[in-house]
Amino acid sequence: MNQITFHYDTVLSDVHLLLPNASNLMTRLNCVGQPVFISKFKILSDCERGDSDGAEKALKETEQNDDEDGDADRTANQETETEEGSVEASLDEDGDLDITHRPRPKPAECSGRDVVCPIILKQSNPALEEEEDLDDEDEKCLKDIIRIEHTMATTLDDVGKQVWRGAFLLADFIFYERAMFRGATVLELGAGMGLTSVVMATIAKTVYCTDVGEDLLKMCDRNVTLNRHMMEPAGGEVKVRQLDWLQHDLCTDADVEFSWTEEEVADMFSDTHFIIAADICYDDDLTDGLFRSLYRLCTGFSHTCTIFISIEKRMNFTLRHMDVSCDAYNHFRHCLSELQEHEDGRVGFTVEQVPANFTQFLLYERIEQLELWKVTATPLSSEPAQSDA
Ligand SMILES: C[S@@+](CC[C@H](N)C(=O)[O-])C[C@H]1O[C@@H](n2cnc3c(N)ncnc32)[C@H](O)[C@@H]1O
Repeated sequence: MNQITFHYDTVLSDVHLLLPNASNLMTRLNCVGQPVFISKFKILSDCERGDSDGAEKALKETEQNDDEDGDADRTANQETETEEGSVEASLDEDGDLDITHRPRPKPAECSGRDVVCPIILKQSNPALEEEEDLDDEDEKCLKDIIRIEHTMATTLDDVGKQVWRGAFLLADFIFYERAMFRGATVLELGAGMGLTSVVMATIAKTVYCTDVGEDLLKMCDRNVTLNRHMMEPAGGEVKVRQLDWLQHDLCTDADVEFSWTEEEVADMFSDTHFIIAADICYDDDLTDGLFRSLYRLCTGFSHTCTIFISIEKRMNFTLRHMDVSCDAYNHFRHCLSELQEHEDGRVGFTVEQVPANFTQFLLYERIEQLELWKVTATPLSSEPAQSDA
């Protein structure tokens, strides 16, 4: 029997499932003609984080702000679900369960969402429009809001143009462990739309925010510019650069956009004490490439480097197993074990899982399938040696 393969499966991140949710949010087309949306993610204040009521309140406030712009927000949906979810039950005279069904919502209310009528406001412009430069008043309003432009459903090749839950878990960890990252040089791999790098740059000194694809890197760079005001107080800087796990070397060709200068390569190898990566293990060949890159990078450091990787353990039904399995996650765990067992006298790796029970600073679903892993790479010889592994 011929095997059926789907080359153009489309995926939509849960982060965007209910957000954005209004008209006028498709702001422009990117440089390859894909519709670009903007989402706002609020960093919760201390009192908002205190209890779930506070978190809900914060989400509601964001919703109100957004509504003024014509936006709606997922809280509305969550509340509707809770209200609708309450079903009264009692026993009739024979002792049978008598259930009062909740009133059936009218079709328009069913989803609790507005109908999206996207209007393209403008064509892509690589430089931010002048009117988007923030004045003092804007800065005050937006200081706790991360604004991220992204596309919605994409093919697997383009998943980096959406924001994934793993980015939020890693961002939460960075906020929670801010003392650890203060003033550091950090390398992010597979940064996508740059949310985690932006968060890191509110604390760290330099963040090399890396990924592949000119159109993706352009969108990421624009997000860094959109959120520049958040990094300025700490003096943090994000440098968006190309780093392909399937290539041996960093691109230093000055004619290529997002290439590295020789100075940046030297700085990255001498100063990077942390590598971060969110939701980057979803294809076994890419995961192999990622681990080869990690190994190569760590053999180039003459100091200990700590790597934090977030992953969502996704269950899929596969024809191969005729069952639900989590192949990508299992392969990731296999690569971690191999790294830990690898012995070549140059670098030693230790691996541990970080309990994901730290404070939540951003609003998203912290599902139990979200995991954070810590890898510590320690040089075993005093001389760093570029590996050809
Ligand atoms: C699921 S997305 C995660 C994006 C972002 N970290 C997040 O969590 O929102 C996976 C990322 O890995 C990147 N990626 C895939 N193949 C890559 C490669 N060969 N080299 C570098 N990055 C790659 C993709 O472009 C994408 O940005």
